[in-house]
Amino acid sequence: MGIGEDSTVDHAQGGAQVAGVSPRYAAADHSSVLEAASILRSGGLAACPTETVYGLAVDAANALAVARVYAVKGRPRFNPLIIHVSDAAAAAREVQFTELAQRLAQAFWPGPLTLVLPRRPDSCVCDLASAGLETLAVRAPSHPVMRDLLAAFGGPLAAPSANRSGHVSPTTAAHVAADFPAGVDMILDGGACQYGLESTVLAVSDEVARLLRPGAISRTELEAVAGPMQAAAEAESASPSSPGQLASHYAPRAPMRLNAATAEPGEVLLGFGAIAGDVSLSPSGDLAEAAANLFAALRALDSRGAARICVAPIPERGLGEAINDRLRRAAAPRP
Ligand code: TXA
Ligand code: MG
Repeated sequence: MGIGEDSTVDHAQGGAQVAGVSPRYAAADHSSVLEAASILRSGGLAACPTETVYGLAVDAANALAVARVYAVKGRPRFNPLIIHVSDAAAAAREVQFTELAQRLAQAFWPGPLTLVLPRRPDSCVCDLASAGLETLAVRAPSHPVMRDLLAAFGGPLAAPSANRSGHVSPTTAAHVAADFPAGVDMILDGGACQYGLESTVLAVSDEVARLLRPGAISRTELEAVAGPMQAAAEAESASPSSPGQLASHYAPRAPMRLNAATAEPGEVLLGFGAIAGDVSLSPSGDLAEAAANLFAALRALDSRGAARICVAPIPERGLGEAINDRLRRAAAPRP
């Protein structure tokens, strides 16, 4: 039986690209996985079980698809997403492994360990998926359905937990369906998740691992392989975060001025809608397109060497809230 078959919900108010069609709900088998892979190839959203919690998967290389994930989750800011890959070889195409990272991957992959590593310059993952950071969080999940989906899709999948922002993570397909009566293209039902707790997130730099998020793999298990680790709080105070919780959130070199109608002398203007600017986030005023272009546009303007970057007003609705949150962080006084 399909869940929410007749529930066509109009989410227009919540954000730009949220379709009003209820998700296709299917028991996870190889043929429904192939269908999900083809949805992902065309930029769609597919919820899929993992061994930790259900994830809301999209093509990690497709910035518009990633923007749709932020929109349907109703995330008020762009938290970087975990990039799911088949194995360490696939991860090594996107990030630079250290020796310690290799040991950790060998010990815990496939499984609920996420490694934050420097992004490779030739990584196919779009900037929006990592919220403009120079690092990517990668993990090779062990759930057979997610592994089958990764193999069928043939590339990295960005997948946050498949819940609306502020809700708890889903551990059954019914939880996903309850959170998303619309906006998700397909839900693969693979039963309840084994761990029911998100993956452990570790930042690995040189030969030191820092625990960013406790999760399904315990500190004791990790320390047996990685040696003593800093906890998130210790790591945080060792390198205090600049505007935003993540120390390394991208901010342009140039100072920024928001809500600008025109550029002052020495400024370059990031446009939106009717305000064309030197570079536009979206000439048509589409917030999903603006989100998809945000980080690349900031980098492009910064590379012009102007004294200041000013930004046209962005409406505070739908994805505009996250775009404005990100812009305010980038514009906040620097320590
Ligand atoms: O178990 C899991 O990890 C699940 C399943 C679906 O795989 N996914 C998940 O994703 O929990 P999400 O988006 O709900 O959480 C991602 C976490 C956030 O805490 C985020 O800040 C962190 O990973 N993260 C992602 N990229 C990062 C980066 N480059 N640097 C630091 N933290 C990062
Ligand atoms: Mg989550």
